[in-house]
Amino acid sequence: MSFVALITGASSGIGEATARLLPTRHPHAEIILVARRQDRIDALAAELNAADPSGHSHVHPYAADLTDPDAVDRLARYVSDTFGHLDLLVNNAGARWSRTFAEGGFANVSQTMEINFDAQVRLTEALLPLLRAAVGANGDAEPTASIPAGKPRASIVNVASTAARIGRAGAGAYSASKFALAGWTDSLHLELRPERIHVGLVNPGFIATEGFPATEFVDHPIKKYMVGTAEQAADAVLRAGLDHQVEIYVPGFYYLFAVMRTLVPGLMRKVAGGPAFTTQTSQDAAADELA
Ligand SMILES: NC(=O)c1ccc[n+]([C@@H]2O[C@H](COP(=O)([O-])OP(=O)(O)OC[C@H]3O[C@@H](n4cnc5c(N)ncnc54)[C@H](OP(=O)(O)O)[C@@H]3O)[C@@H](O)[C@H]2O)c1
Repeated sequence: MSFVALITGASSGIGEATARLLPTRHPHAEIILVARRQDRIDALAAELNAADPSGHSHVHPYAADLTDPDAVDRLARYVSDTFGHLDLLVNNAGARWSRTFAEGGFANVSQTMEINFDAQVRLTEALLPLLRAAVGANGDAEPTASIPAGKPRASIVNVASTAARIGRAGAGAYSASKFALAGWTDSLHLELRPERIHVGLVNPGFIATEGFPATEFVDHPIKKYMVGTAEQAADAVLRAGLDHQVEIYVPGFYYLFAVMRTLVPGLMRKVAGGPAFTTQTSQDAAADELA
């Protein structure tokens, strides 16, 4: 039975890098690439399929806006009809509009929750039967009341953020959505573990990507050392999804910020309240152009 993976947000950044890395771990995996920009995922699929010496087209682009519930249901039907099961779901699509609450209000919180949290929950619900089908097909279909001794048979990876553990001024909507995603992931991990479905969490720090270019850090003589690459984040996604790690910060030292938030909250509030950790996203640049 083929290994089937679905990666959301595969048209750029961490999702694209994950799609490129996965064949090095699973050379014959069927990979479904999901994003809104059809041209980008078509081009990536064509490139990855051309690189497969077997000539088999194993990368499948699927354009969808994940904030549209009907599109999520259609995507789940496509995966069911085409593959019948799913071994790995990577919930990676996401965005940040940098606004204070005074600037963005409920509308900004709502649009951020839609793509960073609601979409992940909706897609997971729609695809869970197919993850269960993979567990059944891979053996040990019967859920056990206690934690099973064996390895998980299918995985979900949720890409949250270090902002899932620390709030910053101007990023409240983003932090709200990522705190929600991390909290839900912590619970889902425990709920699905008896079914041998692993649920892992990846918390990136600053990773220079198209959507989150972090130029304020990349161009800084010291802060540039705090910026990771999409390839590092993709490696973390696969360690969570294939090696069943539970929670990974990337770059790894970002976990210190989460620890400091608990141990020295006053210091972290000073750091997070100022402009030192403020970066612009592609959503901010687009909004500036419209203004
Ligand atoms: N880079 C960082 O510093 C950083 C730090 C912490 C967390 N993260 C998280 O990592 C994840 C990936 O981000 P990235 O850095 O790789 O940014 P990116 O390059 O902007 O990638 C975001 C992806 O999400 C997709 N997407 C956005 N809205 C969508 C929608 N409505 N429906 C379907 N797909 C949608 C985009 O594709 P389309 O535009 O084609 O739809 C794109 O492929 C996000 O969840 C982000 O919050 C990133």
